[in-house]
Formats: sequence, structure tokens, C-alpha cells
Amino acid sequence: MDEWTSDSNEALTLSLVRAPKDKEALGEGESYEGFHPTFTYPIFGEEEKIYGYRDLVLDLRFASGSLKQYLNIMHSAVASSSTVDDVQGTLTKYIPEDYYKTEEGFLGRVEEEADSFRPFGKKIYSYTRPAPGSSSKGKGPAVALAEDDEDAAVFEVWHVRASATWDAPGFKEYHRRMQLFILLYIEAGSYIDEDEELWEFVVLFEKRKRRSIPRVETYHFVGYSSLYPFYCFPDKVRLRLSQFVIVSPYQRQGHGSELYTAIYQYVLSQPSIAELTVEDPAEAFEDLRDRCDLKMLLSHTAFMTEGFGDASVSSGGGKVLSGRRARVAAAAQRKGKLGPPSDKVWLEKWRRDLKIAGRQFHRLVEMLIQLHLD
Ligand code: ACO
Repeated sequence: MDEWTSDSNEALTLSLVRAPKDKEALGEGESYEGFHPTFTYPIFGEEEKIYGYRDLVLDLRFASGSLKQYLNIMHSAVASSSTVDDVQGTLTKYIPEDYYKTEEGFLGRVEEEADSFRPFGKKIYSYTRPAPGSSSKGKGPAVALAEDDEDAAVFEVWHVRASATWDAPGFKEYHRRMQLFILLYIEAGSYIDEDEELWEFVVLFEKRKRRSIPRVETYHFVGYSSLYPFYCFPDKVRLRLSQFVIVSPYQRQGHGSELYTAIYQYVLSQPSIAELTVEDPAEAFEDLRDRCDLKMLLSHTAFMTEGFGDASVSSGGGKVLSGRRARVAAAAQRKGKLGPPSDKVWLEKWRRDLKIAGRQFHRLVEMLIQLHLD
């Protein structure tokens, strides 16, 4: 690469900025600033190169809650050539026009909204993690803390229906800001059609309690998923998970699995939804989905008991069945529905009850049979 050419993935530097008073509560090594995207080819072209600048930095910051943006382009020299890329013009086509042009204005905004930003829609799911810097940290994500525990970082999933909120103040603009993460993290990701009113969204936030007085709850964006309901004969919908992203500082910490679980539980809770399908899943997402679905099936006592007729497996490992349930399990053991051969009518009944798409369900069943044989 010559001195005037920059790698656009390196040059684009992203930050999720918290107010100084909220940064004080961050644990050691916990930073949401200065990370890079995985892809920039939808913006800067297949080669992911920018020509014409030395030491180029595209400093794109988001307020950690509202995702209000600030763009600052820095370089030490510009080439004296007519082919210098219009980097600002190119990038700003993908973000709303009202981004902040001055750092002062942006930081003022971050400070101002730190106490007031709240998620849109309805809370459908929450979970906790030990807060960084707390005494519970290091015991791993398996430690479940009560939401009001001093040491808990709480994560919440909020559900928003476009039809109800596109015209409501704020959400359409919010979506226009967060959708950039789709281009930056999902291969072949693209913006959705805003004119389509049926979109639904689930947005994951970290909720922190400020330690200083006054105690205020603050919300910080972690990731989101867009969902689309398709008609499913005769009177239901099939909900298709279309886009799914966890921003990189939060990846590989189990948040994607929690967000997926939130969506799945939402699907189970809605009588109008027949099943959950996924559009063109990336490999990492397929892995995540398999793990979550398998975990759910393995801990599903009725399914496992009828399927394998084996009380030890059906209990999800550990629980001993007794009385009538033990007799049912023993009977099933003599004749497990998963065979061989598998009972197709039984399988289809469970597939419908569990609202899992056909291909995925049959893959899961294959995996379970393999696990059981092992
Ligand atoms: N490569 C391979 N497997 C992965 C990866 C990865 N980069 N990330 C997660 N997984 C799998 C693993 O099996 C992992 O279990 P492990 O950590 O025990 O190995 C499992 O998913 C669960 O991991 P989580 O920590 O819950 O996942 P995370 O919060 O990182 O979210 C996701 C995973 C959504 C893929 C996230 O990394 C991301 O947003 N990536 C970029 C965007 C993307 O690819 N989105 C999916 C596109 S497909 C679609 O939209 C339909």
C-alpha cells in the first residue's frame, strides 16, 4: 500500500461514548471506544481502500444510548491529485444528516442525555451479569445476580413494532442511526426498506446504575435484531429474523445468545406467531442458534423423555424423576419416539409446539440423536 492509500477498516474508528460521570463506573479494561468495523466495502468499495490521505482517521462516535453521531475526519496530508477520494461525502451518505460536526456539541449532547435517554417500545426480557469491577466479576457469566444487586449489570431487550412507532417521535431516526452497524458487521448486509411498515425490532441495552449520587439508571446500546412477519396459512405469521448484530466490544460474552433467547421466548409467547425462521444466517450466527436451540431442547423434560425415554437425559442432566413421571419415563424408555425409526407425527407435533422451522428442527433432532448415541 502506498503512503496515500489507507485500509478503510483501519481508518474507520468507532466509539460508543458515555458521559464522563458514567465512565467513572466502568471497570478496569472496560472500553467501548476506538474499535473497528469488520467490513467497509459497502461504503468504500470492494477493495476497502481509501486513496489520497496520509494518517487518515475517520473518527465516528455514537452517544452510547441515543446513538447520536459525531464525525471527525483527520489526516496529516492530502495528495495533490485530482483522484483523492471524497471520504466525507462517501461516508455521510450512510448516516443521517443531523450528525454532530463539532466535538463540543456532541459531548454536550452526551452529557445532556446521559440521565434522560430511555429505550423505545416494550421491555420483553432481561438478564444480569456481574458488573465489571464488582466483587462478583471473574466468577463468570453463569453467576445469576438479582437485578437490584449492587454488583449486577442488567441487560434489557426492548421490542418495537415499526407500524406502531415509525411515526412516533424518535424511533425511525434511532433506527437510521443503528442500522450502520448492519453494513459494518454483517457480510452482504444492507439497509431495510423503511417504507415497509411491518418490521419489528428487538434492541439490547446495558442498564447501569450510576454509583455516585444521585443514583440514575442509564442505558447503553449493545446490539439489535430486525424481524419481519410473513403470512403463514391460515391465520398466523412466520417471524423471520432478518438482521442480527452485537457491537464488537460486547461480542463473545454471551449477549448474542441472550438476545436470540429473548426473541425465541417472545415467539413462544405470541399465539399469532407460528414459527421463527432465519434469513441467510452467517456461520457464527448458525453456531449460536444451534447452541441455544440444543440447550433449550436438552432441558425440555417432556420432549427428551418422550423422545429418548431416558430419565437421566430427559432431566437435562442431574434431576432424578420419581413417582408417575418415573413410570412415564420408564415406559418411554421402552419405546422412545426418536426411534429408530423416528415417529414423524410426534416430531411434527413438537416442531409446531416449539415453533422451530422445519429444516432447523430436523438438524437439531439429528444432533440430539448423535449426542445420545455418544
Ligand atoms: N465465530 C464463530 N462462532 C461464533 C462467533 C464467531 N465470531 N461468535 C459467536 N459464535 C458462536 C459460538 O458458538 C459461541 O459460543 P462460544 O463462545 O462458546 O464459542 C456462540 O456463538 C455464542 O456466543 P455469544 O457470545 O452469545 O455470541 P455474540 O454475542 O458474540 O454474538 C454474533 C454472535 C451475533 C455472530 C456476533 O458476533 C455478531 O454480531 N457478529 C457480527 C454480525 C453477524 O455476523 N451477525 C449475524 C449475521 S446473520 C443474520 O443476521 C441472520
